[in-house]
Amino acid sequence: MTEDLRAIQMNVGSEMKDISSIKYGVCGVGRIGERHCRHFVSGGEDYAYELVALCDADPDRLAAMAAKFGGKSYCDYADFLGDAEMELVIIATRSLDHAVNAAQALEAGKNVLLEKPIGVTAADFHLLQRLDREYPGKLFFMHNLRFQPAFMNLQEILSSGVLGNINAAKLCKHHQFMRRNDWQMRLDCGGGQLSVWGPHLIDQGLQILDAPVRGVWSALRRILTPGDGDDHVKIILTGTNDRVVELEISNSVALPGPYCEIYGDRGTLVCDQEQKVMQLKYLDPEFRWPEAQADAGSPVSKGYMGADPVLPWIEETRKVTPETNPWDQVEIEIAKHLYHTLRMDIPFPIKNTDALEVLRITEMVKKQNPEFEWAG
Ligand SMILES: NC(=O)c1ccc[n+]([C@@H]2O[C@H](COP(=O)([O-])OP(=O)(O)OC[C@H]3O[C@@H](n4cnc5c(N)ncnc54)[C@H](O)[C@@H]3O)[C@@H](O)[C@H]2O)c1
Repeated sequence: MTEDLRAIQMNVGSEMKDISSIKYGVCGVGRIGERHCRHFVSGGEDYAYELVALCDADPDRLAAMAAKFGGKSYCDYADFLGDAEMELVIIATRSLDHAVNAAQALEAGKNVLLEKPIGVTAADFHLLQRLDREYPGKLFFMHNLRFQPAFMNLQEILSSGVLGNINAAKLCKHHQFMRRNDWQMRLDCGGGQLSVWGPHLIDQGLQILDAPVRGVWSALRRILTPGDGDDHVKIILTGTNDRVVELEISNSVALPGPYCEIYGDRGTLVCDQEQKVMQLKYLDPEFRWPEAQADAGSPVSKGYMGADPVLPWIEETRKVTPETNPWDQVEIEIAKHLYHTLRMDIPFPIKNTDALEVLRITEMVKKQNPEFEWAG
C-alpha cells in the first residue's frame, strides 16, 4: 500500500495498483448534503473517498456537520473552492444555484458532481451545455435514482426480453398526501415537483423510452400545496420507436398506485409504490402465436372475442433486490461509479447528454404550462 492509508489496491488492466482515495468536499450540507458526507466516506472494496471540506451558508448547520463528519468548514463558497486539497466538489445547494455553482467550481479547477435538478431555468440549460463542452470529463450529474434497486431490476427484466416488445410504460411517484410547504414548493426558490421529482422520473422515463423523444405532452397542477409550485405533474413522452411513457408525480393521491407498470406484447410488469415487489405475467418464452385472422362477421362465442382461448402464462412475484435501503444504495452506486470514472477512466454511466435531455424536456413542459410563474 502507499503512504495514503485510504488508498486501495485494484486490478487495473492486468496489474494490481494502489489507487488513492478521492478527496472531496460538499457544498450545501442540508438534508441531502448530509447523506453525501456520510455515504461517500463509508467506501467499499473498490472505491474510497476522504471528506476534506464542507461549505454551508448557515454557520450553525455547518458547525454541526463538521462536528459530525470532520473536514474543514467554510461559510464562503469562494474560500471553499480555494481549498487546494479538494479535487471533487459535490454541489447540494438550493436548486436555483446549481448551474452557477457548478460553473464556479469548474473554473476553480475542481471536478464537479452536481445535484438534481441540474438546472432550473433556460439560462441554466445553456450554461450547462457550455460547461459540458468546455470541461470534458470534469462535470457529472447526480441522477442517482438511475440506481434505485427497483429501477435496476426492471431494466434487467426488460433486457431479458420476457415482456416482448414494450409498447407503453407508466412511472408514478405518489408521495404522501400532504400540503407540502417547504422552499421546494416555491417557484421563486426553484421549486415545484417538476424540478423536485421531475428529474428523477424524466430520467428513468427516457431510459425506458430507449429512443429519441418524438413528442412531449404535459399538464401540471397546483392542488394542495400552499406554495405556488406544481404538486401534481403528468407528462407523456413518445419515442421515435412509438413507445409511450407516462409519468406522474403527485402529493394529492390518497390511495397510491404502483410505482411502475410496463406493458409488452408478451407480458406485463407491475412494481408497487414501496418498490419491494415486482409482479410479472408473461407468455412462456417457447410459445409462438399461431396464425390467426380477424373475422368480419358477428362474434360467434359469448363473451370472448380472442383467437386464443388458452395462453401459456407464467406468473411470478419477485422481491426487489438488493433488499437494502434504496436511498443508501443509490449513494453507494454513484460513489462507486464516480470513483471508477475519475481513477480508472471507466465511463460514468449517467451520460451528460442524458441529463441535458432531461433539462430540455423540463423546459418544454414549462412552456406547455405557462400559468405557472417559472423562475428565470
Ligand atoms: N438526488 C436526490 O435524490 C436529492 C434528494 C434531496 C434533495 N436533492 C436536491 O439537493 C438540493 C438540496 O436539497 P435539500 O433537501 O438538501 O435542501 P436543504 O435546504 O435541506 O439544504 C440546502 C443547504 O444548502 C445551504 N445553502 C444554501 N445556499 C447556499 C450557498 N450559497 N452556499 C452554501 N450553502 C448554501 C443551506 O444552508 C442548506 O444547508 C436540492 O436542489 C434538491 O433538489 C436531491
